[in-house]
Amino acid sequence: MANDPRLWWQDGVIYQIYPRSFQDSNGDGIGDLEGIRSRLDYLVELGVDAVWVSPFYPSPMADFGYDVANYTDVDPIFGILADFDRLIAEIHARGLKLILDFVPNHTSNQHPWFLESRSSRTNPKRDWYLWQNPASDGSVPNNWMSNFGGLGWTLDDTTGQYYYHSFLPGQPDLNWWNPEVRAAIYAAMRFWLGRGAKGRGVDGFRMDVIWLLIKDKHFRNNPPNPDWHGGDSMGSVLPKYTANQPETHTIVREMRALLDEYPERVLIGEIYLPIEELVTYYGGPELKGAQMPFNFQLILTAWEAPLIARLIQQYEAALPAGAWPNWVVGNHDQHRLATRIGAAQARVAAVLLLTLRGTPTLYNGDELGMPDARIAPDEVQDPAEKRQPGLGLGRDPERSPMLWENRENAGFTAPGVKTWLPLVWDWPGFTVETETADAGTMLKLYRELLRLRRARPALHAGSVSDVHEGNGVLHFMRTLGSERLQMHLNLTGNSQWTPSLEGQVLLSSGLDRAGEAVRNGLELHANEAVVVELS
Ligand code: NOJ
Ligand code: CA
Repeated sequence: MANDPRLWWQDGVIYQIYPRSFQDSNGDGIGDLEGIRSRLDYLVELGVDAVWVSPFYPSPMADFGYDVANYTDVDPIFGILADFDRLIAEIHARGLKLILDFVPNHTSNQHPWFLESRSSRTNPKRDWYLWQNPASDGSVPNNWMSNFGGLGWTLDDTTGQYYYHSFLPGQPDLNWWNPEVRAAIYAAMRFWLGRGAKGRGVDGFRMDVIWLLIKDKHFRNNPPNPDWHGGDSMGSVLPKYTANQPETHTIVREMRALLDEYPERVLIGEIYLPIEELVTYYGGPELKGAQMPFNFQLILTAWEAPLIARLIQQYEAALPAGAWPNWVVGNHDQHRLATRIGAAQARVAAVLLLTLRGTPTLYNGDELGMPDARIAPDEVQDPAEKRQPGLGLGRDPERSPMLWENRENAGFTAPGVKTWLPLVWDWPGFTVETETADAGTMLKLYRELLRLRRARPALHAGSVSDVHEGNGVLHFMRTLGSERLQMHLNLTGNSQWTPSLEGQVLLSSGLDRAGEAVRNGLELHANEAVVVELS
């Protein structure tokens, strides 16, 4: 078996918390660190192992915390450093791990580094960001775009040069060619790695847009995208000189080497690239890059059994020897799973995510089957929607508050308080309270799956094989030693008789049929996924 001895981030399950929307503790309608701390027992009961918290650093909140004005503190909206210290202590006391979201590609335009950098062309920090002269006609230096729409250059009147921003004008990109920038970011990483009781610190980082970190030194124009048919303006060019540059790998290796100075830390990279490119971020045959380049393929692939069977095979085949896989079905940038594939198939997806080989990452609220919230035009918060309205790019719908109890504001905040985003309209059906009381809920399914995954070595540590598809049903096996489990996932809305090896049902996403004997096949209900233990 590869990767022996096994590490916590291989056997465990990661749970992403979007802090603005998890739990408010002080009645301002926005979640905070104390709120997270007050809900830790829920996570233990759910059965996850590690918590990844989206940014809570001081920030003007132009991109809700992904515009960092200070890498080593806590924004007053979320609390103070002492709250962080209490949070990490209590996370560790429960045997959980804490993964921080780190944003190395850009800072806020209010970060002191940028304020200095923009103050004059000769400022010592001028080269910390990507400054360029206007073109001869005064227009932008080149055709590099912003991921949030429009050109990625903003003219700074003080010094008459443009700066580049992959995202908002309020998020200037750092110049990763500059060794001082690297040193400053690495120092901030060390701050968190050493923080907490006995200097134990955070257990890892999720690195924001790590594949965008470095840009072409010569600022060459990106080539036009021949397949672009309008819509999202970022798609009008191919990001040849602004993404996935070879030098990015050097930086990822430096970050990894830094983490390796501390015991059992994990480096996760946010990377939206095709599989063949994605797996290069493991850092070659010696695996010196990210331990887990996030695998978003289940979000990007159409929900059809033949496509998913092929995807699992391709991904497994592309992994470098010994590289550890991972799977993601939702996050704060993607429409909710239950909205993308429907409530019935979201249950099948839960079984898939928690029975595949590799570390699963759950997004808060998906364990309740929460759908997207409806956001009225005057309630829009997300700059991605404000800059490119109506293209469906807004991320507010998947960021609506967690649903806890059956009282006003669902226990997310005090009654009478206006929440920063509206709750999903039919929220009483999705609260933890309802789903704990009722039979057959999504929450119960997740709890059962998480228990099963933990209890069964074949699921958290075994091999995967026999991945195939027939009549819209996806099959695969997980094996460790003599333990053999076979998964049958019906991605269709019709019942199907499906062949199976002999054994007995361990779990079904539908009606309770645990213990049912399986001879040479079984009848799957519409949208049903089952786990069969082979005899
Ligand atoms: C990726 C983050 O997940 C997203 O929420 C953010 O807007 C961009 N990076 C920019 O930091
Ligand atoms: Ca609050």
